[in-house]
Amino acid sequence: MTDSAAPNPIPHQRRKRYAGKNPRRFEDKYKELSRDPETIAKVIASGKTPVGTHRPIMVAEILKVLSPRPGDFAADCTLGYGGHAQEILAKILPGGRLLGLDTDPVELPKTEARLRAIGFDEKVFPAHRTNFASLPQVLAAKNLAGADLILADLGVSSMQIDDPARGFSVKHNGPLDMRMNPQRSQSAAALLQKIKPAALAEMLVDFSDEPNATTLAPLLAGKSFATTLELAAAVRAALPRLGKEDSDLTVRRVFQALRIAVNDEFSALETFLRNLPACLKPGGRAAILTFHSGEDRRVKKAFDDGFNLGSYSEISREVLQPTSEEQHSNPRSAPAKLRWARRAN
Ligand SMILES: C[S@@+](CC[C@H](N)C(=O)[O-])C[C@H]1O[C@@H](n2cnc3c(N)ncnc32)[C@H](O)[C@@H]1O
Repeated sequence: MTDSAAPNPIPHQRRKRYAGKNPRRFEDKYKELSRDPETIAKVIASGKTPVGTHRPIMVAEILKVLSPRPGDFAADCTLGYGGHAQEILAKILPGGRLLGLDTDPVELPKTEARLRAIGFDEKVFPAHRTNFASLPQVLAAKNLAGADLILADLGVSSMQIDDPARGFSVKHNGPLDMRMNPQRSQSAAALLQKIKPAALAEMLVDFSDEPNATTLAPLLAGKSFATTLELAAAVRAALPRLGKEDSDLTVRRVFQALRIAVNDEFSALETFLRNLPACLKPGGRAAILTFHSGEDRRVKKAFDDGFNLGSYSEISREVLQPTSEEQHSNPRSAPAKLRWARRAN
């Protein structure tokens, strides 16, 4: 049957009207993409990530270092959209099982439903909402032995960044929240309102190497910012002499530091790294993707220390980075760094 003879399975829907050629608001983009596969392909071809999805990074490199085989038990500690998980599941079946963890109660059920719908049932793909710092407790509670392979792809997913309601976006206005798990802890707005200038200055330096920390801290600490764009505007106003590019970078660094603080990311990572050798079977492999120097430093140190102590028999000597093709086709991959380790027998 030729294409022209094929019946159209998608009933015609009137296209929504937007102010411009393409939808700009998150909700409009979401609706558009949920019914139009052609739009999704076009968005990806233009180097962007369709809203409500996440494009997995360095998939080939991760599969190479983790070398999943049929029958393996894998743990994906940062399930996100499940892109890496799906690729690993395809390699460990038949006989294998992937435990998917994520701290996000908003996105995890969607990912779980998506993977169930394509055939991964509870037996091969148990999913659990938790912080990856608790991996040993989850393994024990589920009566699971050490894993053959463990993946952590740190930071936030595109679904989280792109949804203004989550408060991570430096571009779209939303409540200044930034919690990966909105049921826990305090929002970025609450943190800023309570923090003292000296503590904020220290946080900006420690979490994002912010060179203007001492200027910014007294102007932001103790203040009330309801939305992401209010905070971004205050950062720009505090440093009026910066050019646009430096000003944008400063806003990004302030957001990054707040996100790390709100989600207590470094404590979770350090606990995870400490527990990692014990969560792997002898000979098991771990791969960790990081997106900024604070993460990469911690992973490198933990792997070096583990190697020197004999917990790991082999570790990556050089950091792996996305190919220039991947960076071009998915600019969000550009800062990624991959390190791996193999547990000693
Ligand atoms: C970069 S995304 C992972 C994307 C995923 N690899 C994919 O292919 O779709 C990171 C995910 O890790 C989750 N996450 C970040 N820190 C976490 C932690 N400490 N414990 C559990 N999940 C965490 C985030 O909620 C987010 O969904």
